[in-house]
Amino acid sequence: MITKDLIKELKHKGNGEIGDLIKNQRDSGTINFILQSLGQLPYNFDSSFLYELLTHKHHQVRLNAVKNIGKLNGNTDISKLYELYETETDTSVKREIVSSIGRQRNIVNKPLLLKFLNDGDPKIVCQAIRGLLVFEKDKEVEAYLKPLLNHPNEMVRTVIYKEYYAVTIPNTGTIPHQETYEFLKNVVVNADVLQALKYVPEESIHLTFTSPPYYNARDYSIYPSYKAYLEFLEEVFLETHRITKEGRFLIVNTSPVIIPRVSRSHSSKRYGIPFDLHPYLVKNGWEFIDDIIWLKPEASVKNRIGGFMQHRKPLGYKPNAVTEYLMVYRKSTEKLLDWNIRSYDWQTVESSKVADGYETTNVWKIDPCFDKVHSAIFPVELCKRVIQYYSYKGDLVFDPFSGSGTVGRTAKALDRLFFLTEKEPKYFEYMKTKAKPDEIFNNRQTKFVSLEEFKTIANDIN
Ligand SMILES: C[S@@+](CC[C@H](N)C(=O)[O-])C[C@H]1O[C@@H](n2cnc3c(N)ncnc32)[C@H](O)[C@@H]1O
Repeated sequence: MITKDLIKELKHKGNGEIGDLIKNQRDSGTINFILQSLGQLPYNFDSSFLYELLTHKHHQVRLNAVKNIGKLNGNTDISKLYELYETETDTSVKREIVSSIGRQRNIVNKPLLLKFLNDGDPKIVCQAIRGLLVFEKDKEVEAYLKPLLNHPNEMVRTVIYKEYYAVTIPNTGTIPHQETYEFLKNVVVNADVLQALKYVPEESIHLTFTSPPYYNARDYSIYPSYKAYLEFLEEVFLETHRITKEGRFLIVNTSPVIIPRVSRSHSSKRYGIPFDLHPYLVKNGWEFIDDIIWLKPEASVKNRIGGFMQHRKPLGYKPNAVTEYLMVYRKSTEKLLDWNIRSYDWQTVESSKVADGYETTNVWKIDPCFDKVHSAIFPVELCKRVIQYYSYKGDLVFDPFSGSGTVGRTAKALDRLFFLTEKEPKYFEYMKTKAKPDEIFNNRQTKFVSLEEFKTIANDIN
C-alpha cells in the first residue's frame, strides 16, 4: 500500500527508490498520487525518473513531473523542459513548463523567458512576465515588458500596467475608507437621483443596492425610447461610481421585461435589460464580479405558458419567467479585496461576520413581496443577504431608486447607515409612514428632505 509516509521515507533515501516505485506502477492515478505527495525535494534527489515521465501519455503525469522538476532548484535540466514545450499540446502542461523555468530565478533563462512572451496563450505570456519580473531592474527585460502595455490581451495589459505604469492615486475622498459624511447618514431625498447626487462628494458610499425602473413596463417611469432609458441608467451608475469608495460594490437587480403589443397585428417586445445595461457599466469602470439569480415560485409570476399549453406548436413556446438577476460589480481598482477589509478595525470585522446559514450558491430562492402601494418592492430577505454579504457594520448603503425604502430599513436593522433617493412624492410619503421613529430609527432619526433642503445641508457641510 502506497501511503504519504512511505513516499516521504523513500524520498529521503536518495538512492532512486522513488523512481523504482513509480516505474512499477501501471496506473497513472497512482503515479500522480506519488508525484503530488513528494513535497519539497531533498538537495541530492535522484530526479532522472522525472525526466522520463515527460513523455508519459497522460498529460496529468507530465504536468506533475514538470512541477517536480521545477522544484529541483539549481539542478533543473531546462533544455529537457524546453524540448517538451516545443511539442506539448496540453496548455496546462505548457504553462507549468514556463512557470517552472521562471521559478529557477536564474538569469541564464532570460532568453527563453523572453521567447515565451510571443506565445499565443496569454496565460503563458503572464507566466513568462512573472518569471522575468524577478529581473525587473535588467534594462533588456524592461525594454521587452513595457511595450506589452499594448498587448492584445487584457490580462497581460493589466499586469504590465500595474507593474510599470500604475501610480498610487491618493484617496480623493477626504475621509477614511470606513467613514462617511454626517449629512448623508440616514437621509432620504425626494428628488431625481441625478439632481441629488450633484451634492454628494466623491467616495462617500460603501454599497449600492438598487432595482431601477423597468423601462416602460410600469407606470412610475416613462422614457422616450429604450436607448434613452439605458443612457439614463448609464448616467446614474456613472455618478454612483464617482460617489462609491474605492473597490466597493454595486448590485443591480433587473430582469428582461415585456412591453405588450400595440395591437393584434403586432407582437410584444422583450427587452433584455441586464444584458444591455452590462456593457455600459463595464465601460464606465465597474468590474463585473457575479451574476446572482433570484428564483421565485412559479405560482407568483405572470402566466405566459398558457397559450403554448393549448397549442403545443414549436416556436410559440413562452416559459414562465421565474428569475431576476442581481448583477454584482466592483468599482475597478488595482487593490485587492483584502485592502478594503483591512481598512476596518478588528471589532467591526468580527461583528460583521456572516452567521451560519448563508447562501452558498448563486441561485437565491426567495418569495417576492406584494405591496398595496408600491408595485415592485424588494423582499426584505433579498436586501438582508446583499447588505450582509457586501457591507460592514457602520457602512453607508445607497439606493438611488428607493421606492418604499426597503433597502434603508433593512440597512438600519443590520446596523448599517443608508442614503436614499426617490423621485415620486407618493412613494416618498409612503416611506415616511413606514419609518416608525421609536422602532426602526431609534438611534439616528431618519431625515426626509426635499432637494432644496438637501442642497442646504450639503452646502453647510461642504
Ligand atoms: C423598482 S422601484 C424600486 C422599489 C424598491 N426597491 C423597494 O423596495 O421599494 C424603482 C423606483 O425608482 C423610482 N424612480 C424612477 N426614476 C427615478 C429617478 N430619476 N430618481 C429617483 N427615483 C426614481 C420610482 O419612482 C420607483 O419607486
